[in-house]
Amino acid sequence: MFRPVTLFFSVLLAAPLVLANAYKDYDNDFLDPSYILAKNWNTSTAASQQSITQWADFLAAQGPWSVVNKTVLPPSGNKHDYMSWAPYFWPNCTGVGNTTVLQPSQIWTECPYVYRDGMFNPDRLLVNNTGDFEAMSDAVFYNALAWVLTGSAKYSANAAHYIDTWFINPDTAQTPNLQYAQIERGPGGQAMHTGLLDFKQMAKITSGILILRNGSSPDWTDDLNTQMNNWTTNYIDWVVHSPTAYGEWIAPNNHGSYFYNQLASLYILVGDTTNAINTTQSYFSHQYLNQIDANGEQPLEAARTHPYHYRCYNLAAMIVNAKIGKFLGLDMWNTTSTKGGNIQKALDFAIQQPLNTTDGDGPIWECYPSVAAVAANYGDPNGTYAAFLANADNTYPAEPYFLFNQPFSDSGLASAVPTNSGPSSSSASTSYLGAFGMFGGSLITSCLAVVFSFVIQFAIS
Ligand SMILES: *[C@@H]1O[C@H](CO)[C@@H](O)[C@H](O)[C@H]1NC(C)=O
Ligand SMILES: *[C@@H]1O[C@H](CO)[C@@H](O)[C@H](O)[C@H]1NC(C)=O
Ligand SMILES: *[C@@H]1O[C@H](CO)[C@@H](O)[C@H](O)[C@H]1NC(C)=O
Ligand SMILES: *[C@@H]1O[C@H](CO)[C@@H](O)[C@H](O)[C@H]1NC(C)=O
Ligand SMILES: *[C@@H]1O[C@H](CO)[C@@H](O)[C@H](O)[C@H]1NC(C)=O
Ligand SMILES: *[C@@H]1O[C@H](CO)[C@@H](O)[C@H](O)[C@H]1NC(C)=O
Ligand SMILES: *[C@@H]1O[C@H](CO)[C@@H](O)[C@H](O)[C@H]1NC(C)=O
Ligand SMILES: *[C@@H]1O[C@H](CO)[C@@H](O)[C@H](O)[C@H]1NC(C)=O
Ligand SMILES: *[C@@H]1O[C@H](CO)[C@@H](O)[C@H](O)[C@H]1NC(C)=O
Ligand SMILES: *[C@@H]1O[C@H](CO)[C@@H](O)[C@H](O)[C@H]1NC(C)=O
Ligand SMILES: *[C@@H]1O[C@H](CO)[C@@H](O)[C@H](O)[C@H]1NC(C)=O
Repeated sequence: MFRPVTLFFSVLLAAPLVLANAYKDYDNDFLDPSYILAKNWNTSTAASQQSITQWADFLAAQGPWSVVNKTVLPPSGNKHDYMSWAPYFWPNCTGVGNTTVLQPSQIWTECPYVYRDGMFNPDRLLVNNTGDFEAMSDAVFYNALAWVLTGSAKYSANAAHYIDTWFINPDTAQTPNLQYAQIERGPGGQAMHTGLLDFKQMAKITSGILILRNGSSPDWTDDLNTQMNNWTTNYIDWVVHSPTAYGEWIAPNNHGSYFYNQLASLYILVGDTTNAINTTQSYFSHQYLNQIDANGEQPLEAARTHPYHYRCYNLAAMIVNAKIGKFLGLDMWNTTSTKGGNIQKALDFAIQQPLNTTDGDGPIWECYPSVAAVAANYGDPNGTYAAFLANADNTYPAEPYFLFNQPFSDSGLASAVPTNSGPSSSSASTSYLGAFGMFGGSLITSCLAVVFSFVIQFAIS
């Protein structure tokens, strides 16, 4: 069902030829703002930088986002409360005893709901706070980056506006909790601890805010900084005291890994380095130890219905925890699991596994950012990882993750990118990498939107 969505669009506009790597909602990331703000880029990252700016534009065309943009109210009746429905639960109305067809709102409250792993219930999208948070956090992330890459305050203003709309503005702000996240519907339906996963991309939001804050952006005002710190402090208070959130804190699999991405990011955001360090160390001395076998298999993810997806998904979370650790001055990349595995072995194993294309596993590119991250942090002395990516996706030097995970070889592919950005030449029609340097800054938003809605569902599992 899922094909690789590395699509290329070529449209002849007035002057330049436009070709772009399509936007992808990569699982998660965390960036050290010092690396970004130093702007000490390898020239091989030129195409990657252009994709980042395009993705910022593509997302900005859809914002802003707010939790109040939903028509179904949470049990509290307060539309400012974040709400989502557990995606893998389905109604079973056979024993309800109704004599006429039930209305949707009756089904949601009267029929017991049954778990079917990996089977998305499509009506979860009637409440789309989850998709909107994903889009908002990517918009903050790429717009903060595009501000550094282009120097245009348009992008910093975008990022600040999205933060203000989602978290701060009284008309549209979210209350600082996830008490109605991933509600398991049915009689007496309760929020599930899995709902904490909806906020894993706080790591991307924190990265974006650190870039604006540390780069002294005029759009990141003292007032916004103070209010965002206040929101985050209140939310942390809910997270660390909520029995629901605690279930995610102790979850042994990817849910636990992502919980630590989130909590450490929250502490970093409010400048609580002590708790951020403790949180990251805690992950690597608890859940992590049982997540990787000696051969690199991740047994808790392999047991799921879509093992290729879940191995890559947990890898992304483990790597973000390691990146956060590095930012905090901890060396976690080499931590060995109880059975003798580590992140590199988990990656090596995961990318050798087949993708079951008949059952919606994947997408195939889900592991690719982790390949670059492992190569950048463990080294790639004989070019194994670069060769893997060159074979799997020969436009990988144009992916944003190529900029985030340096040093890493471009396999000679970026050398096709011209350094000037003049009008198009004939070489562009034969080499799409050759066209990146001629990219004119425009964007085929409607085409990308199709891809976007297609990948968004993988963000919530
Ligand atoms: C969501 O809410 C924001 C803030 O009120 C608004 O600007 C935006 O247009 C809304 N989006 C949709 C799709 O309703
Ligand atoms: C659906 O409900 C009926 C009646 O309560 C029950 O017998 C059946 O096992 C349920 N099906 C599933 C898949 O849980
Ligand atoms: C009970 O409600 C369910 C859900 O609307 C419906 O599928 C089913 O046909 C209803 N049963 C009767 C006897 O109408
Ligand atoms: C959910 O939100 C995402 C991001 O805003 C959007 O792309 C998607 O179309 C939305 N889905 C529905 C069903 O509204
Ligand atoms: C940005 O971060 C660096 C390194 O942590 C620090 O030295 C510098 O003072 C920061 N700059 C600002 C404006 O916060
Ligand atoms: C801090 O946040 C809380 C809830 O998010 C809000 O009620 C309060 O007014 C905020 N305080 C300040 C000083 O902004
Ligand atoms: C460190 O984090 C763990 C949970 O991960 C918590 O139980 C412990 O209390 C924390 N320690 C300190 C000193 O805050
Ligand atoms: C792929 O998934 C389908 C549907 O779940 C299943 O029947 C099939 O056995 C799987 N194939 C492999 C090789 O695992
Ligand atoms: C792992 O440890 C080795 C030996 O101490 C070191 O050379 C290497 O850089 C470390 N790798 C990472 C990713 O930290
Ligand atoms: C490639 O490099 C790795 C170290 O990253 C090493 O373990 C491996 O043996 C090398 N393979 C070959 C064929 O040289
Ligand atoms: C830039 O990247 C290329 C490989 O893509 C590498 O050969 C070169 O050494 C890098 N330059 C610097 C200054 O790191």
